[in-house]
Amino acid sequence: MAVFPQLRLRRLRRTESLRALVRENRVDIDDLIYPLFVVEGEGVRQEISSMPGIFRFSPDQLPQEAEEVARLGIPAVIVFGIPEHKDEFGSAAYHPEGVVQQAIRTIKKSVPKLLVVTDVCLCEYTTHGHCGVVANGDVDNDQTLPLLAKTAVSYVKAGADIVAPSDMMDGRVKAIRVVLDEAGFEHIPILAYAAKYASAFYGPFREAAESTPQFGDRCSYQMDPPNLREALREIEQDINEGADIIMVKPALAYLDVIRRARDTFNYPLAAYNVSGEYTMVKAATQQGWLEEKRVVMEILTSIKRAGADIIITYHAKDVAQWLQP
Ligand code: PBG
Repeated sequence: MAVFPQLRLRRLRRTESLRALVRENRVDIDDLIYPLFVVEGEGVRQEISSMPGIFRFSPDQLPQEAEEVARLGIPAVIVFGIPEHKDEFGSAAYHPEGVVQQAIRTIKKSVPKLLVVTDVCLCEYTTHGHCGVVANGDVDNDQTLPLLAKTAVSYVKAGADIVAPSDMMDGRVKAIRVVLDEAGFEHIPILAYAAKYASAFYGPFREAAESTPQFGDRCSYQMDPPNLREALREIEQDINEGADIIMVKPALAYLDVIRRARDTFNYPLAAYNVSGEYTMVKAATQQGWLEEKRVVMEILTSIKRAGADIIITYHAKDVAQWLQP
């Protein structure tokens, strides 16, 4: 084995061309999914105060935004809805004229090739802000499943290409798969938020989506942050129930979970670079304390290096701009 002075690792770092030649991981525009927040109304394009650069759009504003995303080469968006009316059972989630259903139809009509992923969850639609039906002060797993399945089918009927359950109920992937197949949608993939932790990094999103729980927290359904083995069991469960793509969320504080998931399962693996991760970078770069482009690329590359194939990120449009040939 070569040793110094024959071995000089610096030889391959001398110029940018050499470094590019031996580069092991890259972020590609094709890896990215861009989140879109949709509100009811008309002419709304409102910046979210805790997420600079990210807006809430009414459906009529979406063609313009979708065209821009597609022009940048980003292959997919994930849609989150903020309904006008909430109720105990989140019925606005599965209403055929719901805000997400309108959004899907508008996007698919204006830019058919842009993949529309829909987050399937009830928290934005329930008065109590929990991700399922509340019974006796707790989120009832089995009563929630049919509502999630109904929501997923409704999104697919409106034109969604992929459904992404994020509620963390047991059995939701199977419940959704069965109902999709019954409705003739056996070709529609499920991207499961398989290992989703009860994280403080969702703070800005909850403000954006008005989905903060009105009592208690999400700790009885989302995962306990210290657990890694349990994440593998969660992922295994979702795969057994029929998930096509698995996801770890958040990304940055869970790179070890991404790595273990990559090494354990031969499924496409997504990671969600969540709102709090975005906001930290934005806050520091706006102060001039960090260099935005380099920091964002370093973070996203670390998510790829950990093993993710797909990254959902609020930075997607910026990154796509930086990566233009
Ligand atoms: C809905 C959902 C959440 C996020 C994605 N889907 C919030 C939550 O679970 O509280 C968080 C995304 C982000 O923080 O960027 N359940």
